[in-house]
Amino acid sequence: MTPPDQQWQNPLRDPRDKRLPRIAGPCGLTIFGVTGDLSRKKLMPAIYDLANRGLLPPGFALTGFARRDWADQDFGQVVYEAVKEHARTPFHQSVWDRLAEGIRFVPGSFDDDEAFDRLADTVKHLDAERGTGGNHAFYLSVPPSAFPTVLKQLSRSGLTDQSGDSWRRVVIEKPFGHDLESAQHLNRIVNEVFPEDSVFRIDHYLGKETVQNILALRFANQLFEPIWNSHYVDHVQITMAEDIGLGGRAGYYDGIGAARDVIQNHLLQLMALTAMEEPVSFSPQDLRAEKVKVLSATKPVGPFDETTARGQYTGGWQGGSLVPGLHEEGGFASDSITETYAAITLEVESRRWAGVPFYLRTGKRLGRRVTEIAVVFKRAPHLPFDSTMTEELGQNALVIRVQPDEGVTMRFGAKVPGTSMEVRDVTMDFGYGHAFTESSPEAYERLILDVLLGEPSLFPVNEEVELSWKILDPVLEHWAARGKPQPYKAGTWGPPSADAMLARTGRVWRRP
Ligand code: BG6
Repeated sequence: MTPPDQQWQNPLRDPRDKRLPRIAGPCGLTIFGVTGDLSRKKLMPAIYDLANRGLLPPGFALTGFARRDWADQDFGQVVYEAVKEHARTPFHQSVWDRLAEGIRFVPGSFDDDEAFDRLADTVKHLDAERGTGGNHAFYLSVPPSAFPTVLKQLSRSGLTDQSGDSWRRVVIEKPFGHDLESAQHLNRIVNEVFPEDSVFRIDHYLGKETVQNILALRFANQLFEPIWNSHYVDHVQITMAEDIGLGGRAGYYDGIGAARDVIQNHLLQLMALTAMEEPVSFSPQDLRAEKVKVLSATKPVGPFDETTARGQYTGGWQGGSLVPGLHEEGGFASDSITETYAAITLEVESRRWAGVPFYLRTGKRLGRRVTEIAVVFKRAPHLPFDSTMTEELGQNALVIRVQPDEGVTMRFGAKVPGTSMEVRDVTMDFGYGHAFTESSPEAYERLILDVLLGEPSLFPVNEEVELSWKILDPVLEHWAARGKPQPYKAGTWGPPSADAMLARTGRVWRRP
């Protein structure tokens, strides 16, 4: 079999039309942590959606492993309910029936040798019964503290052994560590059991259509690249705002906080795609080389008391209802210093970006749910208008709307109708929903399919993960020494320090 990386290298050796649907070869997927939210809301529905789109092999097998006294049928029922509730595509009984034939369940805990031996037997039987051909991926949708045990068990029970053309892969969910040191430790443990090219670290933002569109926008057009640099760009704002709170997620979130939860991964990946140089090709190696280069050149800007902000939400009005604050939701220690809002300032030390701040912010219970990248341009060096005519003229901006309402907006000045030459900001919009008829697949559909196909482009390698921690660690250390974050009311746009950090350079956050 051609190693996955080489499948991308030489188009002459692979004349297949890349627009044709890519269908996974014979294989099975085992999920650890099937009782969790992620499995139920994202993974199981995504597997059904892939089956529904005809992208899974006919003998595909899905095995669940958990500490439950379930038979195959009980697990099948759990998957069925998850699919009914959360699948993106319409339910077809025939598709479900075919998928259900390949569903298996292995009860057991992670420290139970016998359970893993049973899993190894199940996998062997699947090869014989369903023709999965020895090709199996193991999805660790479990707390990071369980990674080492599960990985050791997979290795001990022979589940990591690949023979001949068959493959074994592991899929790891974030958080990839807690800081640089723990990430390095985790990477060592993973690489003791799986070679790096068999490790797929999920950053589900990279599976979003609009995130991939950053590459199309930048590198398929002539229009933007010439002005994509410090001569024209004033600053970049990357926002991931959520309206939801943390009810029920305290166990995961307390002690982690907004910066570790999403800046270390999703937002730094968005920044890397926005700031990187054009890759030689879209092969996994070339793409990663550029991301690694730009992450290596990225540093947090200090002094952190002035250039960063962090907050914790309190109760307030949001979307017409009164919602509780973090500490009324339960699960958080009353003296918890975990932030639910985080904003940082970064600089990229390169010729292209010298002097251009990149502001990254994220928060729970903010004004509304929106993720966007706004490239804000410098003002025109000269305005040949009467100054009163341009009072309402802002800065040009190109905004990539990642979600919801996926698309791109351009903001520029236009003449206000009338006898005077007054100029005001207007916007020009591209909306995915209007321009294309087909709806975008869910990020997890794309990423699970890529795992089964062995296509690693959209998965960060350990170097990217470690570099991201290196960028964030100094800020986290500073915050840890500062105690409690500033409170902000639910439904607002974060703590006062967030506005202050931009105001010091005369800038303001966008209110999407
Ligand atoms: C996850 C974070 O990675 O992304 C969550 O752990 C967050 O805290 C989620 O809510 C948001 O994902 P999306 O796709 O809804 O923007």
